[in-house]
Amino acid sequence: MTEIVIEAGLTRLVLAPGDDGRLHQLHLGPPEAGPRPDLPLALYPLAHPTFGEEPLREPAVRVTHADGAVSTRLRFDGAEHEGSEHRIRLVDRVAPLAVTLCYRPWPDVDAIEQWVEVANEGDAPCRLHQAASGAPALAGPAPHLTHWGGGWAGEWTPTTEPLGPGTKTVASFGGVRSSLYRPPVVLWSPDGTATEESGTVLAGTVRWGGDVRFDAEVAPHGQHRLIAGPQSVGAERVLDPGEVLVTPTVVWTWSTRGIGEASRRLHRFARRHVVRDGARTRATVANTWEAVFFALDPDGLAAQVDRAAALGCELFLLDDGWFGRRDDDTTSLGDWEVDRRKLPEGLQPLIDLTLAAGMRFGLWVEPEMVNAASDLYAAHPDWVIGEPGRERREERNQLVLDLCRPEVRDFVVATIDRVLGDHPGITYLKWDANRDVTEPGSGALSADRQSHLAWDRVRATREVMAEVARRHPDVELMLCASGGGRSDLDTLRWFHEVWTSDDTDPVDRVRIQWGASHLLPASVLGAHVTRWGGRPVAFGCAVAMSARFGVDLDLTTLTDLESVTVAEAVAAYHRIRDVVQHGDLHRLVSPVGSDRAALAHVSGDRAVVFLYRLPGDPGGGDPVPVPGLDPDIPVTVTDLTPGRPPADRLTTLVDGAVPWPAGDAPVATIVEVTPV
Ligand code: DGJ
Repeated sequence: MTEIVIEAGLTRLVLAPGDDGRLHQLHLGPPEAGPRPDLPLALYPLAHPTFGEEPLREPAVRVTHADGAVSTRLRFDGAEHEGSEHRIRLVDRVAPLAVTLCYRPWPDVDAIEQWVEVANEGDAPCRLHQAASGAPALAGPAPHLTHWGGGWAGEWTPTTEPLGPGTKTVASFGGVRSSLYRPPVVLWSPDGTATEESGTVLAGTVRWGGDVRFDAEVAPHGQHRLIAGPQSVGAERVLDPGEVLVTPTVVWTWSTRGIGEASRRLHRFARRHVVRDGARTRATVANTWEAVFFALDPDGLAAQVDRAAALGCELFLLDDGWFGRRDDDTTSLGDWEVDRRKLPEGLQPLIDLTLAAGMRFGLWVEPEMVNAASDLYAAHPDWVIGEPGRERREERNQLVLDLCRPEVRDFVVATIDRVLGDHPGITYLKWDANRDVTEPGSGALSADRQSHLAWDRVRATREVMAEVARRHPDVELMLCASGGGRSDLDTLRWFHEVWTSDDTDPVDRVRIQWGASHLLPASVLGAHVTRWGGRPVAFGCAVAMSARFGVDLDLTTLTDLESVTVAEAVAAYHRIRDVVQHGDLHRLVSPVGSDRAALAHVSGDRAVVFLYRLPGDPGGGDPVPVPGLDPDIPVTVTDLTPGRPPADRLTTLVDGAVPWPAGDAPVATIVEVTPV
């Protein structure tokens, strides 16, 4: 038997072809466990199930072949590896179809990346209904699935559920803001007992900036499976002769040390191998959106700049409202000229003022969209996604530009070139996208290939993003889609951070950031202090400081005490942010189903611990131990909680643990632990 072993540190996959050519999965799990020597190969599950071969099972590949046959039977046709990458070629012995399973191990983060290449090797087109990125078989007595969703302002609401017989599908639709509804990550716990620090869990994330789909199948005899990849509904493809379709990838990591360890590996993967400039420390942002919304004027903005600099912020971000005739969201997307009614001298005086104040300057754009009320739409009504003869329904008064058209891609890239070229000093863009795709049709695609839009639009968007990043290497990019609608480990290749959610009520944010931290490291999670929820500014600061800190407040209306609090928070954040942004996250006390939360970021012998009591929490409770703290090593503990009188600050740990803050909730404690 030829075993194909894919080793990735603490995650190992073993596959082998049988005598009949079918490829079986012998093992997925920790390296110390392996295939059972006594079990015949035929009893192991197939590595990649197809429609029509295994009855009653969910397929990972489904094709209608040129001769009309709908079944696909894959047989081993060779394996090779180039460097560390494994490629296992499977072919249908009747239909001219090859499916190559591809694996890239990431031993430094204990993860395996997988994708599939489907090739039409015949001389007539076939139809590809489904092409998942991976479909590992998973045993387990009581599998549980954890997934997240929630929609606008409810991102990352968790569900953990036991799986019964049948298939549980979690998937997204809409193409653009997919992660609002379904962030592209799930956890599979074989026995449902995984906790943060112990137990077995498989984490999987699909690296795709469009719709995703996970099918968790619980089958008789413990032959379960998790199929992951891009959404297949509405995404059928014609595969021309000679064409090879490469799926997005999915990243798997198998943890026997609990959910926290799986997250830390995904964070390392993101920071080291995905996120643009992943090791770079992120700046502290002052944004205008929740401060002034569309009401922009030179004096008002100058006052905001002045206050932002005085408080210690490092980057001033001018959000929506600076272009066209944009007094609200009904007009002007597409008309990327400065609104001279609001800013008669243009943007440059504000940029210069910001730079002179010692901050960087950032600008909001929404380049993939157009308002029907815009010069762009009047000139190019055919540049949008839509279907002939069907209503062009607007969402947030806007339509999606059809990036499958090369001229539209050129327009977007050229627009960004022009905005940046005309305004020296912009080193940051917030790239927003505020509607989904509906009536998914494209004038760039033939009538029989309209459903190609699902993949082609994502790829075209990637192309545009990659080109912008290539042309403007010194401009950092924030990824935003009505909040956290784009939170995937593909798009982040060109972006530095994500706007986590429009919900900035810090009480809600404790839970949203908790959920998001299952996939994304704190360095990429934009967290701003606003007035949302009417919470104390000090509490808002304490929540934002556990991620990428910023403010989105009218800084001219802060009370003196609030100004001191924000300035303290900025200074404290700059002291701890290397640990927060680049350290290991330990989620210690969950706010899911409770009204308190604790988390710690640990880097070497330094730690920063955040404790939050939320409304409803009665107080009291045991102090929270700092993870990894050796009680014999003397440490300095600094209470960095902004807004608290110095006399009330804690200066020592009780038995290596941090006590919960007293007082009325919401209330927080932040302590920094450093060796003496
Ligand atoms: C949606 C974003 O999530 C907000 O932060 C803000 O930029 C608005 N769009 C502006 O229209």
